[in-house]
Amino acid sequence: MQNKIFHPYTTFSALKNELPNIVRGEGIHLYDDTGTCYIDIVSSWWACALGHGHPMVVKAIQEQAAVLQHSITGSMAHPKVLELADRLAGLMPTPDRHSVFASDGCSAVEAALKVAVQYWYNIGRPEKNWLIGMDQGYHGDSLGALSVGFVDGFHEPYKKTVKHPAKLPFPVPAADDPDGFGPSQAVIEKHADKLAAVIVEPLCLGSAGMKIYSAGYLKKLADCCAANDVLLIIDEVAMGFGRTGKRFAFNHADIDPDLVCVGKALTAGYMPLSACIVKDSIYSTFSDEGQKDCTFYHGNTFAGHPIGCAAALAALDIYEAEDTVARAADMAEKMKQWMLPMQAMECVQELRFLGMIGVVELKPETKPQIVKIRQALKEQGYLFRPLGTMFYLMPPLVISDEELYAAVTALRQTISEFC
Ligand SMILES: Cc1ncc(COP(=O)(O)O)c(C=O)c1O
Repeated sequence: MQNKIFHPYTTFSALKNELPNIVRGEGIHLYDDTGTCYIDIVSSWWACALGHGHPMVVKAIQEQAAVLQHSITGSMAHPKVLELADRLAGLMPTPDRHSVFASDGCSAVEAALKVAVQYWYNIGRPEKNWLIGMDQGYHGDSLGALSVGFVDGFHEPYKKTVKHPAKLPFPVPAADDPDGFGPSQAVIEKHADKLAAVIVEPLCLGSAGMKIYSAGYLKKLADCCAANDVLLIIDEVAMGFGRTGKRFAFNHADIDPDLVCVGKALTAGYMPLSACIVKDSIYSTFSDEGQKDCTFYHGNTFAGHPIGCAAALAALDIYEAEDTVARAADMAEKMKQWMLPMQAMECVQELRFLGMIGVVELKPETKPQIVKIRQALKEQGYLFRPLGTMFYLMPPLVISDEELYAAVTALRQTISEFC
């Protein structure tokens, strides 16, 4: 059969090779139509925290599909979405929250940006309508998300279409500013009168190449936003639900964000579902009972999809029952110890670690070898997706010690073979 897919993030040159045609998933493994088994070392784009085919999530999906496969949440509700909204609120540092549901991370981000702008409109400060993010931040591929992030390598063609009124620089620690917060503080204070919100990926800029910054920066950012009347949106789409060794990456900074976006591992990658969790002090301004109609005229057909909610509730139950977050924190330390010797390799520029994210950035001159390393790893059964000259492990959190050690070993040996 001819391949008629317009593939995401896939070069035409990659299409010259046979693409794995994945027909089945089990645990950390994916199987293609020839029976070849691969290890899903990037958790299917960082989503499948519980691996594939977890019987409890599968059962929840099947049971929900048999009862109610879809019903909208505009002026209506259903038990699963009510329960999930309540559970999500309960996971926040302060539980007085309402959730906007959507289907993917990018739509949760769009909702957060619009809630933030409309909040200031609702309370009579419409001049506060700027949205800013961090340089090289990534929040999805819609134009709204690009306007608060921008990964140069991906988004160059849209440079003139999306406008960035300002940006926070990526933090660079200095002797007198160990969290590198000073330059960001200057941006926020300069534009506070116009700023509706700041959005950041907490602690790690994933798509920009797993660039890690300190929890101290995040704490200072939260304090600075609060002091300057600027809302803080934390985008936990990639980091949420245990990846960093805490339930949410923002928990490392002990902050209470105004809006939190979740997706990907919310359903452990089993269904497309995302949410933007909004503080009630913001939510309560969206009323039509005052002098003007402040209703949130925004939604998606599948917002709060019952099967997605059932999958999310099952995933949340499993994260608790299997103590996934604590286990991830424990595994993370082992992964770090196993990877650290790679620092001594001549071709390695830097190693970076944050929870169950382990990064090997190779020196720029290794660029011609990257495709070959990736291919050699694939032949050994590992589906890596390098970003530039950077290979990273972001495996399902249920990976065993032996499987993780084998993956680190394969990566180290393959890099040393080619570089
Ligand atoms: C931090 C962050 N936000 C948002 C998104 C967009 O999520 P989605 O691809 O589900 O739209 C991503 C995707 O990788 C992400 O890493």
